[in-house]
Amino acid sequence: MKIIVLAGGLSLERDVSLTSGASICKALREKGHDAFLLDVYLGLEYDKDKLTEVFTLPDGGLGISDGIKTTIPDLKEVASRRVDDGRVYFGPNVIDLCSLADITFMALHGSVGENGKIQAAFDLLGVRYTGTGSLGCALSMDKLVAKQIFKMSGVPTPRGTSLKYETKDTPLEELGYYLPLVVKPCNNGSSIGVYICHTKEEYEAAVKQSFTDYPEDEIIVEPYIKGREFASAVFGGKALPLVEIIPKDESFDYANKYQTGGAQEICPPVSIDQATCEKIQRACELAYEVLHMEVYARADFIVDESDGEIYCFEMNALPGMTPASLIPLAASAAGMAYGDFCEAIIEESLK
Ligand code: DAL
Ligand code: MG
Repeated sequence: MKIIVLAGGLSLERDVSLTSGASICKALREKGHDAFLLDVYLGLEYDKDKLTEVFTLPDGGLGISDGIKTTIPDLKEVASRRVDDGRVYFGPNVIDLCSLADITFMALHGSVGENGKIQAAFDLLGVRYTGTGSLGCALSMDKLVAKQIFKMSGVPTPRGTSLKYETKDTPLEELGYYLPLVVKPCNNGSSIGVYICHTKEEYEAAVKQSFTDYPEDEIIVEPYIKGREFASAVFGGKALPLVEIIPKDESFDYANKYQTGGAQEICPPVSIDQATCEKIQRACELAYEVLHMEVYARADFIVDESDGEIYCFEMNALPGMTPASLIPLAASAAGMAYGDFCEAIIEESLK
């Protein structure tokens, strides 16, 4: 099959995406596919001057910037020229390129890429791609919207409030929460910008910092629940074996997530009772369904150490596919080695 692996993007998870993309591309090539990694820069807001700098290509060929629409030669030729020597700006040409492939493997993470906008463009133009469609991506990317849907549908989730820039100074007492609290951006991933606040001062500083770092986002404030962390993945509507995450520090943050040895990941988990395992898996399947996820996704759970209650925090429409990521581990425990899992995702997406 001709497969374009779409990775990169301009989200804070760009590097994670490139690692996912490179792994997927390598695995698909090993399986005998014509797979190409397409590193795209996303975001129309990107500085035009920088665009010129980034997109002037040595061969003058596929330099995609505003107003320059190149002729698309054969996919293989274009893509092989593109793999090593530059980046491609997301625009009509990327869509044209993707339409030449049998399928585009979505390896983008975070904001544009995981929020459904590219999926919507692909849908309108008839480009086939892997995973969840535009609605599911949009619903799951916004943590507050996802939380509200969880609440309506009986997926256990911590209560939470969102703060906009205008309401950021709302006193903690008015929010009605007890410390410790979690403060996190509503539309980001990989635990970037997640703060656990033990004091009022820490809380105020975290809110301030969040709006400095993510001026256009809302932030979510929710109670900090202490307990064991589990990742629950679904493939084709059915839960895969759980993964327990034992972070070195207080939480599974960006560094813990992507550094070898940063956290221990155990799949299937040991010393957890079967009933709790199944409760998480059923809640995950429900979350997958109510958020309109398709093909595969991963949700993150905590089991409260005080009373054993389970809580779903979020759903990831495009979970990390790096060698250190959780969903490949869960798939492998279910008997699908990494390359088999990539192929299964494609097969399921083409159904
Ligand atoms: N957002 C990262 C890639 C994940 O959920 O795995
Ligand atoms: Mg996430």
